[in-house]
Amino acid sequence: MLNFTESDIFSGLKERNLIGSGGSGQVYRVAANGFGSVAVKRISNHRNSDQKLEKEFLAEIEILGTLRHLNIVKLLCCISNDNSKLLVYEYMENHSLDQWLHSEKKAESSSASMNHVALDWSKRLQIAVGAAQGLCYLHHDCSPPIVHRDVKSSNILLDSHFNAKIADFGLARMLVKQGELATVSAVAGSFGYMAPEPSMVCRRIEHTLSSSTPLLSSRRWSFASCML
Ligand SMILES: Nc1ncnc2c1ncn2[C@@H]1O[C@H](COP(=O)(O)OP(=O)(O)OP(=O)(O)O)[C@@H](O)[C@H]1O
Ligand SMILES: [Mg+2]
Repeated sequence: MLNFTESDIFSGLKERNLIGSGGSGQVYRVAANGFGSVAVKRISNHRNSDQKLEKEFLAEIEILGTLRHLNIVKLLCCISNDNSKLLVYEYMENHSLDQWLHSEKKAESSSASMNHVALDWSKRLQIAVGAAQGLCYLHHDCSPPIVHRDVKSSNILLDSHFNAKIADFGLARMLVKQGELATVSAVAGSFGYMAPEPSMVCRRIEHTLSSSTPLLSSRRWSFASCML
């Protein structure tokens, strides 16, 4: 049971609690009454991207809200009103894999004061296996199966024991039946992690493609890119 209130969450959205930011908004570490810390993602309010972010916000709730697995981050609740859209997650003490892999670059720009050391091989293996188990659950144990569509190191979060948890389901889609995407209308993902075929097409026609079918094999490409 969640025994923190909306005002606990709102009062924690301060600059000093900022732990990261991405394309959809900022992420804060907030002390939640009786729950330890939670991570709160505040979705940005930019008029131009409102519709896209609204879609991602709803997909995150619809998909992640129904999933429970050791290797999938837990969405605890969401808060939505005219002024703000907040997603409240379990807090991952070791933040995201990318911060460990690229800590030198990040240290200069990040407000998070994490003292990163190199990940040893046993931790790397543990993270790879954990992330693979999370993806395997989405593809094979969910009905209908779910494709994430944005697997990358910043969307693999790490708890205090370096268990990997897949995050960010805003671009995810459910499959109607094996091999057929239900509602995908465009290539999606992050350059650098997408398989080359959809990303080349995507770049050439600037996201105007209306019917493309990313295959599960491109999920394996994204996963392999993260693990390199
Ligand atoms: N539940 C969480 N616990 C701890 N840290 C988190 C959590 N969720 C996100 N973060 C931190 O916030 C950062 C920003 O996350 P966010 O998902 O907004 O952007 P991103 O994944 O870096 O980029 P993109 O917008 O392309 O997905 C992450 O890299 C991670 O370090
Ligand atoms: Mg992310």
